[in-house]
Amino acid sequence: MRKVIMLGIATFLGAADLSQVIEIPDATAILLKDALPAPKLYAMPEGCITDDLAAIARGKYIFHNLNGKETKEPAPEGLLKVLPNGKEKQYGNCVACHNIEGAKGYGNIGPDLSNYKSLFVDSGARKGEFVYQKIADPRMDNAETHMTVNLANGLFNEREVCDLASYVMSKK
Ligand code: HEC
Repeated sequence: MRKVIMLGIATFLGAADLSQVIEIPDATAILLKDALPAPKLYAMPEGCITDDLAAIARGKYIFHNLNGKETKEPAPEGLLKVLPNGKEKQYGNCVACHNIEGAKGYGNIGPDLSNYKSLFVDSGARKGEFVYQKIADPRMDNAETHMTVNLANGLFNEREVCDLASYVMSKK
């Protein structure tokens, strides 16, 4: 009896062509799609760092929010909550790693960016180029960085990186 059952299982396993029922994703294609482009050095666009209040408001919104549908306040002028293709706009969620004035539930993986203007900008320790590059592609400054890449991978455009840099460097 036992032999018959064993034989039955063996026949079943031998006959089944599992390649038809199990999805086998192409891991190489997935890895290539998710891979970051090589670290890139950027030239800061002219007029990038600004004290224009509208730009700073956009930078602040991107810094403190994760995505369009979750934000309670309306998006400032020049930013969308939902993109024309119907997908929600992804923001920076920089507070996941950085404290800054007014941050709620911030993380501490990155340095505290509170009082950035008085501590680092006014003293000349940090220039716009550094902040712009750091946000655009932090890997140029620190190859082992834990910070997210923002421009090199197309998460944000140049203007949005300038808005973020202007916000970080502004007096709050
Ligand atoms: C996953 C964590 C993480 C996230 C998210 C993150 N950062 Fe960072 N950030 C870091 C770390 C860590 C550093 C310290 C330097 C390094 O390792 O790159 C840093 C450094 C910086 C600096 C340089 C500070 C200085 O003067 O030395 C700036 C500016 C900055 N981040 C801005 C941002 C902005 C803006 C965002 C959102 C778009 C952001 N970060 C998102 C982790 C993060």
